[in-house]
Amino acid sequence: TNSPVTVTVTGASGQISYGMLFRIAAGAMLGHDTPVRLRLLEIPAAIRSAEGVAMELDDGAYPLLSSIDITDDPRTAFDGSGVALLVGARPRTKGMERADLLAANGAIFTEHGTAINAVAAADVKVLVVGNPANTNAFIAMSNAPDVPRSRFTALTRLDHNRAIAQLSRKTGAPAADIAKVAVWGNHSATQYPDLFHATVAGRPALDVVNDEAWLTDDFISTVQQRGTAIIAARGSSSAASAASAAIDHIHDWTLGAPDWVSMAVCSDGSYGVPDGLISSFPVTCEAGDYTIVPDLEIGDFSRTRIDASVRELVDERAAVVELGFAAG
Ligand code: NAI
Repeated sequence: TNSPVTVTVTGASGQISYGMLFRIAAGAMLGHDTPVRLRLLEIPAAIRSAEGVAMELDDGAYPLLSSIDITDDPRTAFDGSGVALLVGARPRTKGMERADLLAANGAIFTEHGTAINAVAAADVKVLVVGNPANTNAFIAMSNAPDVPRSRFTALTRLDHNRAIAQLSRKTGAPAADIAKVAVWGNHSATQYPDLFHATVAGRPALDVVNDEAWLTDDFISTVQQRGTAIIAARGSSSAASAASAAIDHIHDWTLGAPDWVSMAVCSDGSYGVPDGLISSFPVTCEAGDYTIVPDLEIGDFSRTRIDASVRELVDERAAVVELGFAAG
């Protein structure tokens, strides 16, 4: 058995956390030989509810769950944190302007980034789930100058998994036969799910599909709009699938993955994405590290779409710099 890892979850009383915590406790995220110390961070008004979740976690009698702490203090929550899942965020409510939303989240992710910088484990892995996820991760990273930039990531694995699901439906191939799917850019409606490198049972996916209109008119928008479609059908936002994707993200980053996955990570300038921007790329994962897949050929069709999503990220960055949450 490995030594226990401290896993901090913010927004612990929320829907995504409810879909995530029990699987983390069961070993689905860090493996079945790594005990977990859970630290649940919530705002004061939701502490009581977090206590209820903790009662249920107790009742799972999970052999790998060493301890559960609940707090409203980020310094306590991130103390010694090896994995930090930043799920809690301020949702957009009716009548709220975009600038208000950025300001509310800017304050939260400045506070959390500062605390991570001060007290987290030296090798902390940070995953931001709360929206706007890429820009929230950028803010946290900007406020944690002593933590390597590579440790700050945002969730686009849900979009990646959605792309696999659509390709699987279209071709009739099981998800396990699909490889080398990529999601580029922002976790927003501008994201670009890319099938030009994808394979189905080893064959080029677009040859197997053989339907150009499906790619341009159907696939991309279905993946981009999937969150909205789920809200329309279910009456509330995707929570279990987001939880599952967050677990996949940390699992693969920590333990490695046989295939490409998509992660929003700090750009090193690859593929023309400005250095320092948190943008989604196809990556490979091995032994606790990820690497942006190098040297892919990017045609005009993809280039236009990647650039549009990256432009949105550049604008979001400019807005939070303007508000004073990060240096320009
Ligand atoms: P939710 O509203 O059910 O839960 C959010 C929780 O965060 C609440 O319990 C709230 O009290 C807490 N919270 C707010 N501010 C906090 C703070 N400063 N510190 C600690 N906790 C705080 O929302 P849900 O459904 O769990 O979603 C969480 C976030 O994930 C949302 O921002 C949502 O937009 C985002 N999301 C991201 C996805 C992605 O793929 N990146 C997919 C789906 C949702």
